[in-house]
Amino acid sequence: MDLQLRDRAFIITGGSDGLGLATAHRLAAEGARVAICGRDEERLARAVTGLAGLPGDVIGVRADVRETGDLAALVERTLERFGRLDGVMNNAGKSAAGAFADLGDDEILADHELKVLAMVRLTRLALPHLRERGGAVLNSLAISAKAPAAGSLPTSASRAAGLAWTKAMAQELAGDGVRVNAVLIGYVDSDQWVRAARDAGQEYADFTGALAERLRIPMGRLGRSEEFADVAAFLLSPRASYVTGAAVNVDGGFSPVP
Ligand SMILES: NC(=O)c1ccc[n+]([C@@H]2O[C@H](COP(=O)([O-])OP(=O)(O)OC[C@H]3O[C@@H](n4cnc5c(N)ncnc54)[C@H](OP(=O)(O)O)[C@@H]3O)[C@@H](O)[C@H]2O)c1
Repeated sequence: MDLQLRDRAFIITGGSDGLGLATAHRLAAEGARVAICGRDEERLARAVTGLAGLPGDVIGVRADVRETGDLAALVERTLERFGRLDGVMNNAGKSAAGAFADLGDDEILADHELKVLAMVRLTRLALPHLRERGGAVLNSLAISAKAPAAGSLPTSASRAAGLAWTKAMAQELAGDGVRVNAVLIGYVDSDQWVRAARDAGQEYADFTGALAERLRIPMGRLGRSEEFADVAAFLLSPRASYVTGAAVNVDGGFSPVP
């Protein structure tokens, strides 16, 4: 199936590694133009170099999604380079989960700013441009948005908020031709699991194999980042033209909630 992505332009936050990078690869392989962002310049440059040679065009823009000025510059650079904006993937983030009794207000507010306010601010900045072409917004969330477990705060609360924003914005913006969807992620290969394996002093395959077994993931393994990217690219593409307000689980059957 041709995803009809050729020459369309996208922004992916947190595109310098993990799931964002895999999605940038997928979009650029389809001929799309992609601006990826992250805070670490070197990591960003490595990611852009790794994507060179694909049919699309990829630029890296250093930006911290918690800074509104950085987000405005990201949109500006994207429009300067590509002249259009067809989609935004709000993906930058990191896990923040612990015991409720140990959780302070500062951690809750910081998580909300990173995972919710950043998404709201970038979508607001992108909206006039998305309206011009009937664009798409895709939010990377987590299955805990619908099925919060013990020890999953504050992330699960931020992800539930992301789901509410996704649904309400989808209904408000459908009349403008702008679609808004979410992907609810379970456990998918990415740099965050590479770091976790390293911190545990284990080989990646051993660490993730044991994790899948302990969690009883029905498919018996973590997802591959390319499997996530296929779903994300479809939802961002015009081939998903009648899909809005949806939250798709990419979790190997792990979530107890559809
Ligand atoms: N992989 C999973 O199993 C899983 C599960 C549930 C939810 N998720 C969510 O999916 C998203 C992607 O996760 P991942 O596993 O691909 O993570 P990852 O491998 O750790 O990559 C995170 C990316 O986000 C960037 N980033 C982090 N903080 C940022 C900030 N303040 N401003 C701009 N960029 C920032 C990182 O670059 P810099 O550090 O250089 O900024 C990097 O490019 C995250 O929101 C994560 O919470 C993932």
